[in-house]
Amino acid sequence: MKKRILSVVGTRPEAIKMAPVILGLKNEPWAEVRVLATAQHRQMLDQVLGFFGIRPDIDLDIMRPNQSLTTLTARLLLELDTVLATEKPDVVLVQGDTTTVMTVALACFYQRIPIGHVEAGLRTWDMQNPFPEEANRVIAGKLARWHFAPTEGSRQNLLREGIADGDISVTGNTVIDALLMTAAKELDVGIGLDPTRRLVLITCHRRENFGEPFENICLALQTLAKQNPDVQFLYPVHPNPNVKDVAHRMLASQQNMLLCEPLDYAPFVAAMKLAYLIISDSGGVQEEAPALGKPVLVLREETERPEAVEMGVVKLVGTDCLRIVQEAQKLLDDKEAYQAMARGISPYGDGQAAGRVIGVLRKHFA
Ligand code: UD1
Ligand code: UDP
Repeated sequence: MKKRILSVVGTRPEAIKMAPVILGLKNEPWAEVRVLATAQHRQMLDQVLGFFGIRPDIDLDIMRPNQSLTTLTARLLLELDTVLATEKPDVVLVQGDTTTVMTVALACFYQRIPIGHVEAGLRTWDMQNPFPEEANRVIAGKLARWHFAPTEGSRQNLLREGIADGDISVTGNTVIDALLMTAAKELDVGIGLDPTRRLVLITCHRRENFGEPFENICLALQTLAKQNPDVQFLYPVHPNPNVKDVAHRMLASQQNMLLCEPLDYAPFVAAMKLAYLIISDSGGVQEEAPALGKPVLVLREETERPEAVEMGVVKLVGTDCLRIVQEAQKLLDDKEAYQAMARGISPYGDGQAAGRVIGVLRKHFA
């Protein structure tokens, strides 16, 4: 009898990071892998699943425009109750720290279904930052049976919370598996960029930055674009209305600031490879960019991914307008400061993380 493994994806980054695990499990003779899309994201999830050739077996189509966290959580829990009772999986795999992950962990706990948590043990130790992700991953971590920690630091975080050492495996982050699979292909950003001008790539979407902090970020980007007419700025804008409306209002008129829809994964990897500098509050981008040798200025006060910061290839710059402008301008003007950050270091994995996750499951189930 094959073991039924239900892999859950809700948002864009979960799909990118779970894809190598899903594709790997399909080659395991002992495993029957099923894919559940909560579709907490719609277009951005479909983009990624399409790129990796993954078709969900179940799709809850849960996204609604500007949905509140409570409504999202409540609707997900109700839908998951039915799906889990019908699917009867032997194990459920979740990835990361979204509301999808937290609700799946809780619904599985109620039905006594064991969970494997991919990208376990990331912590800032501050419940408000990032919000609500720190709470999501703490809850998922409490309920998980297998913890796939990307780094030794994340393993230590789990030990500090009382998780048994034997339940934790340090695997690396599957984001690097996905990145290496993709970066090896012939890639094109698909947007007319000037190859003679330097490119600054921007992404931003964190909830704790909504409102004034995000307006400060936009003001900083506006200033940088004005100060550097010879540089092109590419900003694929997250569709969350709290981001999209402000970004367009404050930045659309800037001639060298190109605002576009979220890029498909492969074109986005192409853009990261072309970029001179990346300014972002994204978790995944903080992991990918160092592997591509691209400096990242992180628009956050703290990070659950301290490894690249400690190595000096990622820098936290917060949301203060002046600070962002100064730090970015320094990297645009000062070659030495730039080279010190553009070193091609990958503290988050070697591209073999999915194999290690599957290895742990194989040992238990096969
Ligand atoms: C979510 C995750 C966050 C993750 C991010 C990755 C939660 C609470 N947040 O944030 O941890 O870092 O995804 O991008 O789990 N929308 C669309 N189309 C899409 C996706 C989103 O229109 O494909 C819009 C909708 O109006 C939706 C809103 O964005 O209601 C917010 O989506 P939601 O998943 O709640 O939060 P994100 O900000 O995307
Ligand atoms: N990404 C993408 N298109 C974009 C912006 C980002 O495919 O226009 C990818 C990026 O390479 C990374 C992931 O999306 O793998 C990060 O997702 P996001 O920033 O939405 O979420 P987070 O990682 O912060 O949870």
